[in-house]
Amino acid sequence: MSSSGSNTSDKGGSDGRAKPENTLEQETEPFEASRLGSKDHWNNVYDREISNFNETGDIGEVWFGEDTAAKMVTWVCSNIEDASSRILDVGCGNGHLLLELAEEGYTNLVGTDYSAQAVELAKSIAKSRSADIAYFEQDFLDPQDVSRVAGEEKFDAVLDKGTYDAICLKPKDADAVSVDQSAIDMYPVSVVSSLKDSGVFLITSCNWTEEELVSRFSSHLECTGRVKHRSFQFGGAVGQTDATVAFKKRL
Ligand SMILES: C[S@@+](CC[C@H](N)C(=O)[O-])C[C@H]1O[C@@H](n2cnc3c(N)ncnc32)[C@H](O)[C@@H]1O
Repeated sequence: MSSSGSNTSDKGGSDGRAKPENTLEQETEPFEASRLGSKDHWNNVYDREISNFNETGDIGEVWFGEDTAAKMVTWVCSNIEDASSRILDVGCGNGHLLLELAEEGYTNLVGTDYSAQAVELAKSIAKSRSADIAYFEQDFLDPQDVSRVAGEEKFDAVLDKGTYDAICLKPKDADAVSVDQSAIDMYPVSVVSSLKDSGVFLITSCNWTEEELVSRFSSHLECTGRVKHRSFQFGGAVGQTDATVAFKKRL
């Protein structure tokens, strides 16, 4: 298993993306579209990871590193008491977050990804560990797909580690440099459609600050808490490497 603290922006981590706190009004420059926002890219990534897993048993990349995944798991354990709560990890990749939650005793876990290869990998890993996790192919930007997976029951919690970051880099069309704003706008709508009225949403991003996440989702979701990450000072400003923010539905 490899830990990645990597930024999902092609701009990398060196462009000052770890921004000062209190930047609510300071909306940053939009990102340019990137291959990291395309399904072909992720299919290629998971094709390679399936081969690696079959050859070596290595489950592959843990986006943002194991500490960040552990912080999300700790948040879930502290905030979701009922182990039978229905929990969705959207854009689950290899499913490692759900594996950790299964180890903590959660029994109603669902992982989705729009990459068929990611779903295949996650299923193989879960099987190899005898973990009871349901995985489905789902494009989180397709309302029909979203309602098919959520069903009538919907979810008590939706988790995202790195998926919104990837969606924010989706090209508008094949050759476009600009991002697909309609995809970015659709994302919080899909979160709300997936959640029960009492449901919670926990997201980790490396491309957006806490304040940007709160501001971007504010018309659909209300911030209920933040998870602290390692902070550092640069040029007199304090920044965090990742941002993890919890929300509830605005009813
Ligand atoms: C940065 S990776 C994070 C993977 C995983 N959450 C993790 O933490 O290891 C982004 C994931 O989002 C998935 N993804 C991107 N756009 C998606 C969409 N529209 N619907 C569902 N999954 C999507 C990609 O296939 C990829 O697995």
